[in-house]
Amino acid sequence: MGHFKYSDREYKRMKNNNLNLADLTRKDFPLFQNESTIQQKLIYLDHAATSQKPIQVIKALENYYSFNNANVHRGAHQLSQKATEEFEAAREITASFIGASSTKEIIFTRNATEAINIVARTWGDNELKEGDEILLTLMEHHSNLVPWQQLSKRTGCVLRHIGITQSGELDLEDLHAKLNKKTRLLSLVHISNTLGCCNPIAKITDMVRSFGCLILLDACQSLAHQTVDVNSLNIDFLAGSSHKLCGPTGVGFLWGRQRLLEKMPPFLGGGEMIQEVFLEKSNWADLPHKFEAGTPAIGEAIGMGEALQYLKSIGLDNIHSWEQKLTQYLFEKLNSIDGVKIFGPDPEKDLHRGSLATFNIEGVHANDIAELLDSKGICIRSGHHCCQPLHRHYGLNASARASLSFTSTHKEIDYFIEELSSSIAFLRKNS
Ligand SMILES: Cc1ncc(COP(=O)(O)O)c(C=O)c1O
Repeated sequence: MGHFKYSDREYKRMKNNNLNLADLTRKDFPLFQNESTIQQKLIYLDHAATSQKPIQVIKALENYYSFNNANVHRGAHQLSQKATEEFEAAREITASFIGASSTKEIIFTRNATEAINIVARTWGDNELKEGDEILLTLMEHHSNLVPWQQLSKRTGCVLRHIGITQSGELDLEDLHAKLNKKTRLLSLVHISNTLGCCNPIAKITDMVRSFGCLILLDACQSLAHQTVDVNSLNIDFLAGSSHKLCGPTGVGFLWGRQRLLEKMPPFLGGGEMIQEVFLEKSNWADLPHKFEAGTPAIGEAIGMGEALQYLKSIGLDNIHSWEQKLTQYLFEKLNSIDGVKIFGPDPEKDLHRGSLATFNIEGVHANDIAELLDSKGICIRSGHHCCQPLHRHYGLNASARASLSFTSTHKEIDYFIEELSSSIAFLRKNS
């Protein structure tokens, strides 16, 4: 299947007519074209939880299930070969999207959570001993905390957590103070799904390398918003989820350096991950199949490949600069509301920050705000966003979060701010 690509003509037309990225791309998303959602005035500001899907991705799934459905790497028949070709093409696209040196370094998983668990279960169980240290941060998503807690129980390794500064950024001095010869891994988020800060990874890797420590990057919130290149970041592992990248749910990936993946034992056992099986023992297939036991999410991986091509065709730099403008606008508008406190750095200070704003409103519960906004067709997130330790640090059990994408518009933000202000006034009056 040929992959979708915006033509230079379309870009020129966009620029000549003073149009923006949302004007160019919203037509690709059935949700934004649907009569009933337009009538409801549905405003989706929850892109950080999961992204909407463009028609190109939906069609790739439909095409696979309609015409190419077969199991991969097994059948001698043509249909299986076709499915295998498309599945492996998705691996190539994924490798190229993050600048990986080889497709052997891309392991398809169910999601980013599974990718992190693979490293904890295989590298961690194999390499760590009592007293070894793992560095995490206070801003991690639960999926980058719990697997290491489980590993610590199994091996006796020690978990240490880097704090955050007053402005809601990673405290690099604390990182420096906590690094030592026992530190074996730093596992941290690229862009925080709550604070929105973009951690300065290249700077961090420079600090960490002299201690011989490995780095795992949780890139869930960065991959769809800016160029991420594993070699220039100088990291060792990266976890990503398709559903945050305009792709289907049920698939994600782990990238790891080949020399590390080769040394790591398999994660799950079963079909596909073996070379030979005897009654008493087995030996393992080469990378990446060693880590992919059982039938994978074939159509979904193909859909993820199409989604990555789609993002590439729009251009990650174009996406970043449009979202940067929108985020500044969102911050300005939110800051103009009395009693609103936004967490994390200002977009003028952190030029790479995520296109989201997490906020708290004096005297008003985030869940009440989210419910009232929902009644106006506005989807935001409320709760702890899978970052309970971070919320505890701020003395909160919940916050509200509005998150944007390249399809977002100033008009959407205006409507959100208008309805947010009247919801706050209503709740204050009735409390
Ligand atoms: C920063 C971050 N890490 C990890 C995850 C987990 O992603 P998934 O549930 O797709 O595994 C999320 C999802 O919200 C996230 O925002």
